Amino acid sequence: MNSNSNFPWWKEAVIYQIYPRSFKDSNGDGIGDLQGVIEKLDYLAGTENSLGIDAIWFSPIYPSPMFDFGYDISDYENIDPIFGDMDTFKTLLKECHARNVKLIMDLVVNHTSHLHPWFVESRSSRDNPKRDWYIWKDGKKGKLPNNWVAAFGGSAWEWDEKTESYYYHAFTVEQPDLNWRNPEVKKAIFNMIQFWLDLGVDGFRLDVVNYYFKDAELRNNPRNFFKGLREYERQYHIYDRNRPETHDVLKEFRKLLDSYPGDRMSVGEVYQEPPGTAKLPASFCGNNDELHMAFNFTFLYTKWNPEAFAKVIEEQERELGDIIWPNYTLSNHDQPRHFSRYKKGKSGVQRAKIAAAMLLTLRGTPFLYYGEEIGMESEWIPKKYIQDPLGKRYWPLFVGRDRARQPMCWTNEEYAGFSKVEPWLPISKNKELINVMRQEQEPTSLLSFYKTLIHLRKKEIALRRGSLRLIIKDNPYILGYERIYESEKILVLLNFSDRERRFPPIPNLSLKGKILLSTHRAENTNYELGMIQLYPYEVNILKLE
Ligand code: NOJ
Repeated sequence: MNSNSNFPWWKEAVIYQIYPRSFKDSNGDGIGDLQGVIEKLDYLAGTENSLGIDAIWFSPIYPSPMFDFGYDISDYENIDPIFGDMDTFKTLLKECHARNVKLIMDLVVNHTSHLHPWFVESRSSRDNPKRDWYIWKDGKKGKLPNNWVAAFGGSAWEWDEKTESYYYHAFTVEQPDLNWRNPEVKKAIFNMIQFWLDLGVDGFRLDVVNYYFKDAELRNNPRNFFKGLREYERQYHIYDRNRPETHDVLKEFRKLLDSYPGDRMSVGEVYQEPPGTAKLPASFCGNNDELHMAFNFTFLYTKWNPEAFAKVIEEQERELGDIIWPNYTLSNHDQPRHFSRYKKGKSGVQRAKIAAAMLLTLRGTPFLYYGEEIGMESEWIPKKYIQDPLGKRYWPLFVGRDRARQPMCWTNEEYAGFSKVEPWLPISKNKELINVMRQEQEPTSLLSFYKTLIHLRKKEIALRRGSLRLIIKDNPYILGYERIYESEKILVLLNFSDRERRFPPIPNLSLKGKILLSTHRAENTNYELGMIQLYPYEVNILKLE
């Protein structure tokens, strides 16, 4: 892949998210680790048989008491011993780079762990120099500073007996929010970012980037009694997130990234459920002078319906325009896996192939989530195995996020080749069919299909750089779009239904070309039809003449 200034690597990359606890356990403690990832790097990239991804985003690997499994950091410049140490990390980085794979770190700087030395100091006395590094409000026990609630339940204010004050936490009580209004906090965070950039990491995923700043006067959020079940959903979050001050910090952050060679990148998580319009995330990219990308989570909530997907794509194209680069995600560590969301009867793999073909041929950076390439599912996890703090708190109303975090299935062995001992979360029940070893041998497996798609994307410049034109967007069965780059034209046709479907000729669209990839027809054969005809759940990608 040749990077050029219009197309830095992250625009052309396929990015793969690893949830480190669940990828590969190398030391037999039932929890995945960095050495495990190193052992599996060839699976991901660098050989002819690899999946072919270009970058890995690691969910947090820093020291953490794990109240939120790493999203509560107690030391920003180290590696948690569960995952390895700094030397293992450096080896990992070197091994990634040797395979031309970029490494993206998770940057969790809205909050720290309550055991971070900064917070330990901050809570120690009202006049401690680090007091103002967090958000404190002196008061009376029982008299909350305002009506803000934590995204993970309960009031966002926690009473601290020692100094008779409340501290603010947008998530769990073990995740106190940093005070971004304090210049010392910003300085410390920026120094830490430089530490990782100097080590050579290629980018950052910014956790809840829209939460950094809260209203300076701590005004109450207005309420809406008709929305949602939980108090959190019944508020308009106008004072506890999406504050304008964030943009200044992001501009500075962008300048810092740009001062390093090699196109260091950033992608922000703009947290709101459901995701809403494309406008809000895009606003955190500014005029392409803030974040490089902001996650587009809409597919995580899109029903199995080509018209609905077309609407999302259309909206992305319209709202992001030529300035902001789009991205698409089907699954991540917070949501049920898309295989389970979309499967119907025995059609799971067929639907997963349609979804993969769409994800990997749209205009924008695709983010894959470990295990989706073999069709891992989100299973019911019995209560006694639940680990996620959210699952523990809300079970059975909400079973939590563990079902998106089960160990990767490498083989059909007892512990799926993930570990030699019982892992931290149960192994998938369907590991016999859904495992890497088996699917590597089957040319029609989902894994083989992902590989073919990723390699096609690498080969065809129009799939990476081309503009996008939706061609069939109002049809209940078929989604069709063209990718156009200079004189190259690729047509993607996806039949979302279990029946054969036809579509009349489209004015100004010749259907003469070669099949680049189809789930039903031989590759490289000529295709010339008066009308579109697709087999049940067919993916058909054509290079037009
Ligand atoms: C968003 C992350 O994706 C989620 O896993 C985490 O629990 C919260 N931020 C808090 O850091």
